Amino acid sequence: MSESKKTTSADVRAKHKKYLFASTANYYEESVVLADGKGSYVTDLDGRKYLDFFGGILTVSVGHANDRVNAAVKAQMDRIGHVSTLYPTLPIVELAERLVNLAPGKLEKAFFCASGTEADETAVALAQMYTGRQELIALRHGYSGRSLLAQSLVGHAKYRGIPTQVASVKHAHSPYCYRCPYGATPDHCGLKCAQDIEELIQTTTMGQIAGFLAKPIQGVGGFIVAPDGYFKLATDIVRKYGGVFICDEVQTGFGRTGGKMWGIEHHDGVEPDIMTMAKGIANGYPISATLATTAIADSWKAGNISTFGGNPISCAAANATIDTIVGDRLVENAAVMGKIFRDGLDALKKKYPKVIGDVRGKGLMQALELVKDETAKDRTPAPDMAGRLFEETKKRGLLIGRGGLWGNVLRIAPALNVVKADMEIALKTLDDSFAAITK
Ligand SMILES: Cc1ncc(COP(=O)(O)O)c(C=O)c1O
Repeated sequence: MSESKKTTSADVRAKHKKYLFASTANYYEESVVLADGKGSYVTDLDGRKYLDFFGGILTVSVGHANDRVNAAVKAQMDRIGHVSTLYPTLPIVELAERLVNLAPGKLEKAFFCASGTEADETAVALAQMYTGRQELIALRHGYSGRSLLAQSLVGHAKYRGIPTQVASVKHAHSPYCYRCPYGATPDHCGLKCAQDIEELIQTTTMGQIAGFLAKPIQGVGGFIVAPDGYFKLATDIVRKYGGVFICDEVQTGFGRTGGKMWGIEHHDGVEPDIMTMAKGIANGYPISATLATTAIADSWKAGNISTFGGNPISCAAANATIDTIVGDRLVENAAVMGKIFRDGLDALKKKYPKVIGDVRGKGLMQALELVKDETAKDRTPAPDMAGRLFEETKKRGLLIGRGGLWGNVLRIAPALNVVKADMEIALKTLDDSFAAITK
């Protein structure tokens, strides 16, 4: 079906239903068939415009059809479009150099793939090769992708289509303060969720581990923000038992959390041994990277190729995206705009105290967790309410995301170059939508 004036969103929806796996779930009761985009706005095939505050899952980091990224992509397309990792190119070495220079600590080497799943796979394999051990700690509520290993790392039943295949993954409690597994509050908890990693290792592993894979903010899990001190304590325990720290920055990287290039940099005294990244790295072009210290990277002795890894067009897109983030000071913009946005969300919580249980996030990665009745301390997840809110915001021209174990968390993540006027539109739309569902 070629796109022509006659083709409508309804036509596309019908063919999607007919030809794609039914499991290829789309957002909304009636899906939005996106056809065009510029900056923070997208337009569907029927000409309806939306303000996009989800960016294809936190991936369109510098706005749709960004001129600088597009120019770099077009120029690269006219030169060479594919080589595989068997041949070096200028874009791949330039990207590796940029990433190593931006990365925290001693991460000095990069390997490129095409998706976040593969980056996490690479990281886990590397941790196992380096330590000579298999067992690994991941977090409940975490998400790592669709492969067999990634599905085993995932801490959500919903995304496990088959039973857990990789027995060596053990899941620690999530640092989910709003629903603390110990019933504690962050100021008086003694970071029990981090401390428990020690007993988890002592009781469910052989006593020494390959590593600990965690995200500074759990994305699909509903933007669960680890409290201060969590990563220092957790990684100290992990290293005591011989493990390396794999920091998954797939959602939190590239300035998303505001004021810092990487989410983990909000935690003092913590250095990843391996770091994974994808999504916002190239404004939507498929590419991911695994960074490691030289000693860890060099422990990969087996053959290691990736057909699409470090594709020159994707690398050119990533180089232009990173130059835009750095050159236009978008890490700082994410902090400034994120603060304005967060203030607006906190005000919404005051206005709708019953349904908005929690507001959380950092920078331009903010979430609202909806519950049955926060005023009565009834934190029963309210996925139906989230679904209705979702439809109301769409009706008013705003696209946001959803997540959380129970589907009751609204995930909001505009482009890093979002402007204040668009944030105000989004906040007003959320306000009107909450008014509609709570009246
Ligand atoms: C933190 C995190 N890691 C890994 C992945 C997997 O990435 P991909 O969908 O590109 O395979 C995701 C995807 O949402 C993610 O959020």
